[in-house]
Amino acid sequence: KMNVEIKEGLEGIIACKTSISRVDIEDGKAVLEYRGYNIHDLARYSTYEETAYLLLFGELPTKKELKAFEEELKDLRDLPAQIIGLLTHLPPFTHPMVVLRTAISYLGSMDKEKHFMDYEHSIQKAKSLIAKIPTIIAYFHRIRTGQNLVHPNPDLGHAENFLYMLKGEVPDRIEARALDVDLILHADHELNASTFAARIAASTLADMYACVVAATGTLMGPLHGGAAQKVIEMLREIAVPWRAEEYVLKKLERKERIMGFGHRIYRNVMDPRTIELRNLAKKLAKMKDSKWFEIAEEVAKAVYKHKGLLPNVDFYSACVYACLGIPDDLFIPIFAMGRIAGWTAHIIEQYVNNRLIRPRALYIGEKGKKYIPLRERG
Ligand code: CMC
Repeated sequence: KMNVEIKEGLEGIIACKTSISRVDIEDGKAVLEYRGYNIHDLARYSTYEETAYLLLFGELPTKKELKAFEEELKDLRDLPAQIIGLLTHLPPFTHPMVVLRTAISYLGSMDKEKHFMDYEHSIQKAKSLIAKIPTIIAYFHRIRTGQNLVHPNPDLGHAENFLYMLKGEVPDRIEARALDVDLILHADHELNASTFAARIAASTLADMYACVVAATGTLMGPLHGGAAQKVIEMLREIAVPWRAEEYVLKKLERKERIMGFGHRIYRNVMDPRTIELRNLAKKLAKMKDSKWFEIAEEVAKAVYKHKGLLPNVDFYSACVYACLGIPDDLFIPIFAMGRIAGWTAHIIEQYVNNRLIRPRALYIGEKGKKYIPLRERG
């Protein structure tokens, strides 16, 4: 007999064991750790490359291991000519997340070893995806705007090289570090929707590209990573700080969701990533003389006052990207650029200790109806 207790949205359900990241509420404060290391320490001291290594291999690298990992990523940044051809052929109005999904699928079609799921092959594919996603995003943007491609520069780190390929000039150190920290903060987050999608695909023993395509499709929705793009669209609409409260009130009256607020896990506690991103956004706004942070602060105040909701990771990351001069529709792809380390680590964890993920549904439709042949139905 079926257990009829349903948790809509699987809220509070523990669906698997993991040793990749931990989210807990301790003494009224939220804690987020990757492989046992606190997110605040990682944001302060780590780099995206080191964090990706940590997520994939479970331990912080030695100096030598990190150097070797960074070199491998650099060697994997280039895209096969066919992928560049694909980027050229896709309509320029295609959303870059759709481009990313399609290009990852194409990479899968080109990998003759895609069905090898052993640890070594999986790690190799993970490195390749981590290295290539920034190139896919930057190249597509250059192509759609009619600019020459800026090829990866092996003298530059992961975040720095992405900004270089996107804009055609080496970013200053503060900008490069801001994106680096942002990628660290987005690198993993337990069983969020896109990671769960990746694990469901992995649980069927689908290949890694298929799993990442599932995750990419899931991340795009506005209740997940899509919120970051909606946040900047909202800030642009509000345009001046004094209009924020009125905007928020109108939205709430219409029972509409305000993007960048609320979280399934961080109900009444601040998301630790939001704290870091708010600091980053504040610093960048000052440096760039940008208005986005000031407007964002007014929105946050109003949403808290009238609905008691706190900002989530997508809220201030939108301000960070806007200050870095990143086009609005690249916000979600940059989330993917960070999260790919977590997705691949989770896919590998699922492969290693697999059981098919296949829950049940409570049927609430009609039962046992008599079939009437078409000719008698009129
Ligand atoms: N704006 C207005 N009201 C909200 C919002 C919001 N952003 N989020 C939650 N609420 C309300 C919701 O209507 C409900 O109110 P009431 O009890 O009066 O009906 C209450 O808060 C509880 O919400 P819920 O529907 O139980 O929350 P959930 O856990 O199902 O949803 C969420 C979580 C993130 C989908 C939701 O907060 C939301 O839609 N936020 C806006 C989209 C967003 O920013 N997403 C990014 C999430 S964080 C990182 C990521 O995954 O990318």
